Amino acid sequence: MRALVTGGAGFIGSQIALELERLGFKVTIIDNFSTGTFKNLIGFKGEVIAESVLDVDFDSRVPKPNVIFHEAAITDTTIMDQKFMIQENFEGFHRILEFGLKHKARLVYASSAGVYGNSESPQVEDKGLNPLNPYAFSKYLMDQFVYDVMKLYPNVIVGLRYFNVFGPHEQHKEKAASMIYQLYLQMKEGKNPRIFKFGEQKRDHIYVKDVVRANLAALEAKRSGVFNVGTGRGTSFNELIEALNEGLGTKFEPEYFDNPYAFYQNDTRAEMASSNKILGFKSKYNFKEAVKDYVGWLESKAEVQTPISVS
Ligand SMILES: NC(=O)c1ccc[n+]([C@@H]2O[C@H](COP(=O)([O-])OP(=O)(O)OC[C@H]3O[C@@H](n4cnc5c(N)ncnc54)[C@H](O)[C@@H]3O)[C@@H](O)[C@H]2O)c1
Repeated sequence: MRALVTGGAGFIGSQIALELERLGFKVTIIDNFSTGTFKNLIGFKGEVIAESVLDVDFDSRVPKPNVIFHEAAITDTTIMDQKFMIQENFEGFHRILEFGLKHKARLVYASSAGVYGNSESPQVEDKGLNPLNPYAFSKYLMDQFVYDVMKLYPNVIVGLRYFNVFGPHEQHKEKAASMIYQLYLQMKEGKNPRIFKFGEQKRDHIYVKDVVRANLAALEAKRSGVFNVGTGRGTSFNELIEALNEGLGTKFEPEYFDNPYAFYQNDTRAEMASSNKILGFKSKYNFKEAVKDYVGWLESKAEVQTPISVS
């Protein structure tokens, strides 16, 4: 089987690409290295096409795939340039979709829980869509556009709405990396981790290894569709610190500060019924196990011991 992974030098894409190779797939990556890093691809043996999905000449450059995992995107949610965001994320996706359909490849693409904005928890796939920034809107547009295409291709396209993903290979994302990584860095600097008052806000944090499993499950999906990828459980900011303290063997206390945002999602939690049923996907790691596994990996990597600046 031949797989194409876009965004394969990034956090999630590199984990997918490496796992596919481990399973015996022949893997091609397309990544323009706008944020991704070669460091995530140490051990990768396949072909890397260092181009944008917006520009690459698919016919001459890209081997015909059986499956495509589309992870390439601008992932910084603070970028407000709407034209840039929609070109990169939506138009890039559109090109990949056409390429996939032309070759009858199964397409699994990354959407985001950002499409739910601050709608009520638990977030259900067909309810409460309310994107609040250009990034979330670009993902919303992808999902909306593809629903009609899915009617023509009921067995081919799977969108995965990732919730808050954390784990190895996210270090290059700096400020856009997970909250767990930001708090880890603060604690490694010997500082009390800073969170909004009073740390009770909840997010559905999912370990990247489970996200890779969800992508593999999508290969076997019974039908096309867009599905949540979370744990189905919200973890409070206070619980993050507790888990990090356990993983690091430390006793840092949270330092609370006022939340500066007028609108803030205080509770995200994926409704996982459709993913369970159609993808056969259920997260495997419980939160503390995942943080422990991640901290073990971080501690084994000397280079991340130099903290990046964290505001
Ligand atoms: N990390 C999360 O918590 C999370 C949550 C929801 C959705 N997602 C989605 O998952 C996917 C992967 O995100 P990530 O966290 O690994 O981010 P990432 O920034 O690490 O990975 C994105 C990769 O895409 C590449 N890229 C960007 N624009 C490109 C282009 N035009 N052509 C080719 N390559 C391009 C970047 O260089 C990078 O390697 C994205 O689509 C993102 O929107 C991530």
